Amino acid sequence: MEKLNGKKINTAVFISGRGSNLNSLIKNHKKKNSPISIKLVISNNPKAKGLIYAKQSKIKTFVTIFKNKNVSEKKILKKLFINKINLICLAGFMKILSKDFLNKFKKPILNIHPSLLPKYKGLNTHHRVINNNEKYSGSTVHLVSSKLDSGRIILQKKIKINKNENQKTLEKKILKIEHKLYPQAIKKFLINP
Ligand code: GRF
Repeated sequence: MEKLNGKKINTAVFISGRGSNLNSLIKNHKKKNSPISIKLVISNNPKAKGLIYAKQSKIKTFVTIFKNKNVSEKKILKKLFINKINLICLAGFMKILSKDFLNKFKKPILNIHPSLLPKYKGLNTHHRVINNNEKYSGSTVHLVSSKLDSGRIILQKKIKINKNENQKTLEKKILKIEHKLYPQAIKKFLINP
């Protein structure tokens, strides 16, 4: 990772849908003291609502539908290279990047996952957490490695689950904390990678 030295890190955010985390990252990158500058938003879904946030802020977007993973990843790598991207933030990106992609990009990739990792890796986290009568849940920002949701943890925030909590209320509560957690984790990681 290159040193900060007051320079903002060119960042790409990958999304697949709603994009509320992207929206919070965009709001944060506009702040003077933000360590990142979001140069590119990538989506595997042409209908991802989050693309609107990028367009509203005049951030370049690139959509590739992963019909052929290898082809899509090659196209993405090219875009990352052209835009001199040094950091990727996955924010609700529903595709798993290949080992080959990670090896070729070489720079850090962060992800936000809505559970207290290493617990509840993978999909349907809120559903599983509620079914298991967990007392706590939360969200984790971690480095992406070749194993799903298993890279080094950068920052984690824990919340209490109420008695009458359901999947929807838990998701809403966790999203709210994620919108603060992701920018904080990026800062923490860039200051001390
Ligand atoms: C978030 O809960 C994030 O942790 C998970 O997917 C969700 C994305 O939500 N990886 P949004 O698209 O950012 O609103």
